[in-house]
Amino acid sequence: MTTERTLVLVKPDGVRRALTGEILRRIEAKGYTVVALERRSADADLLAAHYAEHEGKPFFAPLLEFMGSGPVVAAVVEGNRVIEGVRSLAGATDPTVAAPGTIRGDLARTWDTAVVQNLVHGSDSPESAAREIALWFPSL
Ligand code: PPS
Repeated sequence: MTTERTLVLVKPDGVRRALTGEILRRIEAKGYTVVALERRSADADLLAAHYAEHEGKPFFAPLLEFMGSGPVVAAVVEGNRVIEGVRSLAGATDPTVAAPGTIRGDLARTWDTAVVQNLVHGSDSPESAAREIALWFPSL
């Protein structure tokens, strides 16, 4: 067993479209445990820190604008190899090519002009998970 924790964000498109329950249902149905959960409006500083590794990329500013366009639901999720598992449940970044059966493949709409709206974020490595959980849930 490799018990890990990951940060999941239901992005503003997911909250707006009332898909929070469906997204968390899929994560829980896979056997993972939600150990912290909060709906919040993320400010620009938090979002810039969260996406710091992408600063300078063309999608950085539109991504921050999108992520600040409405509330998100942040969760810490725990389970065996959960970091890889949540990424697998989420599917590919681009909803157009995300596989059917994945959250993005089944539920996300296609790109708008500037930024992909792909419903859900999951940390991409143990290092990212630790950093992101400390940012969003400093008391954990
Ligand atoms: S990269 O450049 O390959 O490292 O980018 P990637 O890991 O695919 O995605 C980084 C996060 O930015 C979000 N995003 C976009 N990525 C690529 N292109 C566009 N246009 C874009 N718009 C937004 C993408 O969803 C990743 O965020 P998270 O929160 O992890 O989903």
